[in-house]
Amino acid sequence: MGVIESLAPADWARQLGNPEGEIGLAVIERVYESNSKSSVKTVAALGLNAGSHVLEIGFGNGRMTPEVIGQAENIRYAGLDISPTMVAEAERLNAALVAAGRASFYLGSAEHMPFPDSSFDCVFSIGVAHFWSAPDKALSEIRRVLRPGGLSMMGCLHPLTAPLFARPENGFYLRDAAEWERLHQSVGFVDVQVQEIEIPQIDAAGAQVKRYVFKMEAHA
Ligand SMILES: C[S@@+](CC[C@H](N)C(=O)[O-])C[C@H]1O[C@@H](n2cnc3c(N)ncnc32)[C@H](O)[C@@H]1O
Repeated sequence: MGVIESLAPADWARQLGNPEGEIGLAVIERVYESNSKSSVKTVAALGLNAGSHVLEIGFGNGRMTPEVIGQAENIRYAGLDISPTMVAEAERLNAALVAAGRASFYLGSAEHMPFPDSSFDCVFSIGVAHFWSAPDKALSEIRRVLRPGGLSMMGCLHPLTAPLFARPENGFYLRDAAEWERLHQSVGFVDVQVQEIEIPQIDAAGAQVKRYVFKMEAHA
């Protein structure tokens, strides 16, 4: 059994929410392998135009960064993550894009973003919103840093098929579609759409499983 297969569920959960050290790197690489096909679809669905300024919250190891930048000419990418391990790894894996000024990775949280108002055309996150204990703070920050009319898109766990460890004591806060819709509207988002999507995934033990996730879209 490998190191990450032998992790206790609570440790696996903690590494998902704030990856640390060699184990955190391995856990997030596994997440990337498991989610990459649906993440590529999510990025394509952003419909990015040439010159767009895009923010990804919770970029993990930053493997999706080249995919984002490849969507159109002159896209500028910023990433924000609470894990110093992930910031260092994303900068390492995307060193050429960082050196060319096309990508920047910031240490910080969705709830307190280090960006001025109206900085981005699009903000997205994959597998992150279920870690927010105060989602109204994160959503109002997303709306603040988006230009008027800008797009927010997020994918997160659905309570119906979330793993058993995804509980508040392990840093997971699951919400249903109506609650996510209400939260978006309460901070002023418009055109809010919360969709249920079925995706195949590989679980911590390497087994193929079917999961539902939410895909949420809204405009500032
Ligand atoms: C499960 S990983 C998902 C990584 C990547 N998006 C993917 O799908 O492969 C969650 C990431 O979100 C980050 N994260 C968790 N809470 C966050 C917050 N409040 N603000 C910013 N990043 C956060 C974690 O550090 C981690 O890198």
